[in-house]
Amino acid sequence: MKSYSVRGGKKLQGNVKVAGAKNAATKEIVASLLTKETCRLSNVPRIGDMDVTLEMCKLLGSNHSWLDDGSLQLENSNLTTHEIPFDYTGINRIPILLIGPLLHRFGKALVPFPGGCEIGPRPVDFHIQALEQLGAKVEFKGDTIFLQAEELTGAMIELPYPSVGATENIIITATLAKGTTTIKNAAVEPEVIDLISFLQSMGAIIYVDVDRKIVVEGVKELNGATHRVINDRIEAASFASLAAVTEGDIMVEGASQNDMLTFLNYYRKVGGRFHVEENGIHFFSAGNLSPVALETDVHPWFMTDWQQPFAVMLTQADGLSVIHETVYENRFGYTEELKQMGAEIQLYNYCLGNKPCRFSGRDYKHSCVIKGKSQLTARNIRIPDLRAGFSYLIAASIAEGTSEIQGVEYIERGYENILEKFQELGADIEAGES
Ligand code: EPU
Repeated sequence: MKSYSVRGGKKLQGNVKVAGAKNAATKEIVASLLTKETCRLSNVPRIGDMDVTLEMCKLLGSNHSWLDDGSLQLENSNLTTHEIPFDYTGINRIPILLIGPLLHRFGKALVPFPGGCEIGPRPVDFHIQALEQLGAKVEFKGDTIFLQAEELTGAMIELPYPSVGATENIIITATLAKGTTTIKNAAVEPEVIDLISFLQSMGAIIYVDVDRKIVVEGVKELNGATHRVINDRIEAASFASLAAVTEGDIMVEGASQNDMLTFLNYYRKVGGRFHVEENGIHFFSAGNLSPVALETDVHPWFMTDWQQPFAVMLTQADGLSVIHETVYENRFGYTEELKQMGAEIQLYNYCLGNKPCRFSGRDYKHSCVIKGKSQLTARNIRIPDLRAGFSYLIAASIAEGTSEIQGVEYIERGYENILEKFQELGADIEAGES
């Protein structure tokens, strides 16, 4: 198994360039299946999750090639099957999003249940209900879902929660449905808006209205298009946290202030400093960090994927910090290893915050109190999920001694050239096998 060995204690300094956003690029690859014409995406990250997504599309008959300028060309004129093999059960979130294009191309779709990181049960009920409202007939067969639709028709769909994936699924499916689809309580994350931009370039008619309302007017067909994938705001925030805890100084090229407004507010409150430059954001530390209380929520609030690197930062703040996670019920599992490294973190079932929370009164440890400042000590750590993986790299970078980090495939699934990026910043990190 691949591992990284990290010796902590270095101030990390220099430039890193963020990659394109995984959570936009993978959905845009799916959207390209709606047309028989050629599509071209630039700024696509070269990561494990992209390989899996392209592999699944290839099995459907999609052809792709990486061009000399680094962009990805997708040719979907000749899809051959409506079935995604069972082997892809539980790997990532993409199979459920393939349903719309398959229904439009074949009138039927057989997909495995999606997976992704182990951060909660991650049901797909909103997706299924919405697809039924659009006219699909759904059957569950073991670990697969079989859907059929002679014709998909626009509908008024109110999501119980602004789910990113369900919003994307409805948008993708509704672009070629007959009539108008209105999504109420839709997700408006920058990655969703990026998908909408790509679909608009393909000829779709989609309005982003006020109050989380998105309206899709179905069209008869879509054309090929070229599109630049939005930059990864999760990677940018992770390097920002790294700069603050190592008392370093990191220029994150491609970090977008507009997509990180809430993160930057909390970064400043904690004592991290930043300068917005023309080509990105320069992050550095101004000395001691201060504690803070924060709650994760849907965009434009503090995103759940910023929580893990930020928590490591809070272990270095003097005093008591509080985090209330309202997006996933089980996203603090990774703190156990941080505790073993010397962090003082206590998990609670209660909502330690004021935001409305679906987990209130339920038996989920979705709030935590972090008491800092703690000197962390190196450990052998196994990565449980992608975002936790980066936070362990940050923790190991400030720990006393050398940590062996196992399961780095998780990190490589979502971050491009992560080892090289840390090395360029001066980290004492090496790849190995363990
Ligand atoms: N939910 C349901 N039923 C559904 C769909 C969602 O109950 O049918 C619940 C989920 O269980 C969760 C909440 O709604 O509690 C939000 O889930 P959402 O659907 O918004 O998440 P997702 O689309 O599965 C994407 C990202 C996640 C990111 C979330 C929130 C991708 C591939 N994944 O997941 O990213 O945390 O939105 O912004 O886009 C990651 O990249 O590591 C990652 C986990």
